[in-house]
Amino acid sequence: MDQEHYRGRFRWRVRPMDKRSNRERIVDLVQNDIKENKEVFPEKNAFIIDYAKEKIRAVIASSRVPEDPRHADNTLEWLLRLEPDAGVALQLAALAHDIDRAIEEIKVRRANFDDYDAFKAAHARHGAELLSPILTACGVAQDIADEACRLVTAHEVGGDPDADLLKDADSISYFDVNLPLYYQREGWAETKRRSLWGYRRLSARARKIVENIDYEEEAINRLLREVVHDKSARLYGC
Ligand SMILES: [Fe+2]
Repeated sequence: MDQEHYRGRFRWRVRPMDKRSNRERIVDLVQNDIKENKEVFPEKNAFIIDYAKEKIRAVIASSRVPEDPRHADNTLEWLLRLEPDAGVALQLAALAHDIDRAIEEIKVRRANFDDYDAFKAAHARHGAELLSPILTACGVAQDIADEACRLVTAHEVGGDPDADLLKDADSISYFDVNLPLYYQREGWAETKRRSLWGYRRLSARARKIVENIDYEEEAINRLLREVVHDKSARLYGC
């Protein structure tokens, strides 16, 4: 049986929603359908993962950083370009890695840290703390949820093949979609500092991708060239 056949067994896909048809209601309905169809529904996790991705996107949509929603999906897109067989935990982590920034009242703030790496580490840890209950509420298997949270915690520094892939996808995406907006908001000096930091943590493969990005604004192309040719960036080569 193919995936379309399984989908037909989901009552919430074929029956109109009642007035409580919000996202939380869908979780109940999915879990009930899984229980009722457990013999004929071996692919149940695929639907839960899709639902969890939508929930993560909904949370990130409320970020006040305008590039955050695009950056989340773009990081997932880069991950799948770098590794088409990336597992579901890694995919969830790619989408959710900056979820810390989504909730203004509790997000980790740069101003509270003297050291940029310490700020980034706290941002990553807090993101994992926010992601864990979201994945649990969506019914994601505990081992997948734990691994996704571990990867979010590690996304700024890497340290194993999956965490390194996530770090590359995140950094490439910064240059792909964040940099022009960051430049408009923060100006030359801060954008160059942030871009040097991002470039230093790229693998050799990812650096080749970033070096070929072409921006509409010539000033940003010039900034990227300065970053690529900066001797201190090369010293930190991976
Ligand atoms: Fe990011």
